[in-house]
Amino acid sequence: MNSIIIYGSRYGSTKRYAERLAEITGLKAVFYTDVKNVADYDRVVYLGALCAGGVMGLKKTVCGLSASQELFVATVGLADPTDAENVNHIRGCIKKQVPASHYDESKIFHLRGAIDYTPMANKSTS
Ligand SMILES: Cc1cc2nc3c(=O)[nH]c(=O)nc-3n(C[C@H](O)[C@H](O)[C@H](O)COP(=O)(O)O)c2cc1C
Repeated sequence: MNSIIIYGSRYGSTKRYAERLAEITGLKAVFYTDVKNVADYDRVVYLGALCAGGVMGLKKTVCGLSASQELFVATVGLADPTDAENVNHIRGCIKKQVPASHYDESKIFHLRGAIDYTPMANKSTS
């Protein structure tokens, strides 16, 4: 099976997850805008940063998928992924971004993200 890891990351934490997953699985990890043709893969493992409820790059990536392709999604955000209310909220947002043919709750995962407050702290003291 021809599989790929695709990721959407602004500040780097999702990229780190994607690169670690690539190391473990031997798959390549590619930033979503750098994927030439998503239709070339049987299975897509998509890791995306949460931004205002949306998953960065997910919609653009899934619009190129056909029904025969398998999609796994892992979100990376600051909201607690062990909190059922948060998870429901995130999944509701994913449902809006992913066609019903590719929305499979058993293939959706949630990872804890990161934030670096240093630039803000530096700005307020300068
Ligand atoms: C403008 C903005 C909006 C965000 N919105 C959410 C959100 O809706 N839910 C969430 O869990 N985290 C949210 N976060 C936190 C990011 O998802 C988190 O920092 C993540 O690790 C960023 O991934 P990246 O480092 O790969 O860009 C937001 C962060 C920013 C800066």
